[in-house]
Amino acid sequence: MSLIPLRIGKLEVPLPIIQGGMAVRISLSPLAAAVANEGGIGLIGVSGMDVQEMVEEIRKAKWLSRGVIGINVMVAVSQFSELVKAAIREKIDLIVAGAGFSREAFGWAKEAGIPFIPIVSSLKAALLAERCGADAVIVEGKEAGGHLGTEKSLFSILPDIIKALKIPVIAAGGILKGKDIWRALSAGAKGVQIGTRFAASFESSAHKTWKETYLKARPEDIVLINSPVGMIGRAIRTLFVEEILKGKAPKPINYKRCVKCLKYCQKDYCIIDALTLAQQGDIERGLVFSGERVGEINEILPVKKIIKNLLAEVKIYQSGVNEVCQEG
Ligand SMILES: Cc1cc2nc3c(=O)[nH]c(=O)nc-3n(C[C@H](O)[C@H](O)[C@H](O)COP(=O)(O)O)c2cc1C
Repeated sequence: MSLIPLRIGKLEVPLPIIQGGMAVRISLSPLAAAVANEGGIGLIGVSGMDVQEMVEEIRKAKWLSRGVIGINVMVAVSQFSELVKAAIREKIDLIVAGAGFSREAFGWAKEAGIPFIPIVSSLKAALLAERCGADAVIVEGKEAGGHLGTEKSLFSILPDIIKALKIPVIAAGGILKGKDIWRALSAGAKGVQIGTRFAASFESSAHKTWKETYLKARPEDIVLINSPVGMIGRAIRTLFVEEILKGKAPKPINYKRCVKCLKYCQKDYCIIDALTLAQQGDIERGLVFSGERVGEINEILPVKKIIKNLLAEVKIYQSGVNEVCQEG
C-alpha cells in the first residue's frame, strides 16, 4: 500500500498529513507553510488572535507556500464568527474547528465552497457533523495535546466512526511515528493530523525553551488539567500547572487586562496569559500543552526531515507487513 493522496471536497494533497493547528501562536505561517510545501496541509492556529493578526498570518503563509493552508479555530473563542468569516474572505483553503460545535459555520463555509472540518471525539458528534454538512471529520483521541473531548484512546473510537461515515475521516492524537500513520490508514482513515511532533520542529513558533521542555519531558510529567474553557487539557507539569492541580492558580477576578477571549470562561485562571507566557519562553509561569507521547521525541528537527523520517518509517513498516503477508 503506498500513501494515497488526501482528498477533502475539491482539495487534494499528495501527503495524507495535516499539521494540527496549535494555539496560542505555536503553529503560525512558518510551520503551516513548511508542511504545505512538503505536500501536506498546514494549519495556522488562530485562537487567541484578532482578525487583523490572522489575516496577516494567512497572507504570509500563502506567500511562503503554494500548498494547502487552512486555519484551526476553537469554537469556544469569542471571536470565532469574525475569524471564520474573515478567513473565508481571505479565500483560505479549509477551516478546521476544534473545542465546540457551531452549526451556523457549516453554512458560511459551504456557501463559499470552502471545506469545513470539525474535530470530534465520539461517534455521536461525528454523525452530527456529517449531517450538518462537514466535508471531513478529524477524530481526536485522548492521546492528543491541548483540549480533549474524550477519555478514550484514538484507536478505540476510530473504527466505529470510519464504519458509520461516508465523508473522509482523519485520525489524530498520539500519531508520532510512521507506524502510527500506517495503523490509522490501515484502519480506513484517509489521513492523520499531527500536533506535538510538529510543535517540536524548527519552524514552530514556540520559544526555544518550550521546545527544550518537550525534549526533557518524561511520561510522568504529562498531566491532565481543567481548562477555563470547560474542558480537560493535556499539558506538561510546570510550576503553574502544579498550582492549577492544587486549585491555587491565580484567579482572574477583576482582571483589568481581560480581553474576554472566550465565549464562556470558568475564570479558574487566565488561559491566554498562561499559554502566551509559555510560548514566549516563561515555562514555569506558563502552560505548555503537549500530547501524551512527547517523551518519545528526542530531537528538534526541520519539517522536511520530520516528514522524510515519517515516510521512511511508513515504508519500512509497509514492506515488513508485505513480507509477512507473502511468507504467509
Ligand atoms: C501546543 C498545542 C496546542 C494546540 N492547540 C490547539 C488549538 O488551538 N485548537 C485545536 O483544535 N487543537 C489544538 N491542539 C491539538 C492539535 O491540533 C492536534 O489535534 C493534537 O495535538 C494531535 O495530537 P498529537 O499532539 O499527539 O499529535 C493543540 C495541541 C498542542 C500540542
